[in-house]
Amino acid sequence: MSRIFAVGSGKGGVGKTWFSITLAHALALRGRRVLLFDGDFGLANIDIQLGLLPRGTIDAVLADRMALRDAVIEHPAGFALLAGRSGSGNLADLEPVALARLLHALREAASGYDAVILDLSAGLDRSVRRMAAFADALLVLATEDPTSLTDAYALMKLHAKGAEHALDLRIVVNQAATAASGKRVHQTLARACQAFLGTTPRASGVIRRDERVRDAIRHQVLLLTRHPGCGAASDIGAIAEELLT
Ligand SMILES: Nc1ncnc2c1ncn2[C@@H]1O[C@H](COP(=O)(O)OP(=O)(O)O)[C@@H](O)[C@H]1O
Ligand SMILES: [Mg+2]
Repeated sequence: MSRIFAVGSGKGGVGKTWFSITLAHALALRGRRVLLFDGDFGLANIDIQLGLLPRGTIDAVLADRMALRDAVIEHPAGFALLAGRSGSGNLADLEPVALARLLHALREAASGYDAVILDLSAGLDRSVRRMAAFADALLVLATEDPTSLTDAYALMKLHAKGAEHALDLRIVVNQAATAASGKRVHQTLARACQAFLGTTPRASGVIRRDERVRDAIRHQVLLLTRHPGCGAASDIGAIAEELLT
């Protein structure tokens, strides 16, 4: 079973990259083979959060300088990674043909993994929508910030409109003040989707705001390595379990 999960939000700065990395780690800790893909080309920063200097990048794959499988690097924590390169141009500017070729190669590589996680860029441009449609499930990250709610809804609306296959929409609330307030964010979004899109996104979980997230990123160490017992770590663990069911 190879499942491709896209992580999107519309809004930037809600924690997509951190969540994608930490989810990859949480799944790896549960014995799954995971490939993490930096789909935020222009502002790629998975490698920065991880403190890595990748040899191969998605850039090289796009330029035909490298086969996709050769650009994959293994993180010592037990997951594989396809890094982007910051400043190398926006995915939005990518020709549809080039993106289609890249996704085709990614689909082939995916068969070697249990799960593939695509960290999408902010915004709702064509490439973001294309990559969301490519995935088996779209994990929409939202925070309690009202602009995050509207952007998350806009992403789900575009996704629902352009859907080529059955929708698998899930909501993850991040940086929640409390588990209860996070649940309310999901309810608000789910209600809007029900009323206007005719679909009810699943609740994948709530991640509390936790200072140790910032600390781990600042030290370029994985949260589940640096603070395995903290609140956000246990919240991510629960989400990983939910995704595996
Ligand atoms: N659960 C959390 N608790 C506290 N801070 C968080 C949490 N999730 C994310 N952050 C903060 O949000 C910042 C932006 O995260 P990032 O993953 O770069 O967002 P995005 O990829 O959506 O732009 C991080 O540097 C981190 O400081
Ligand atoms: Mg990001």
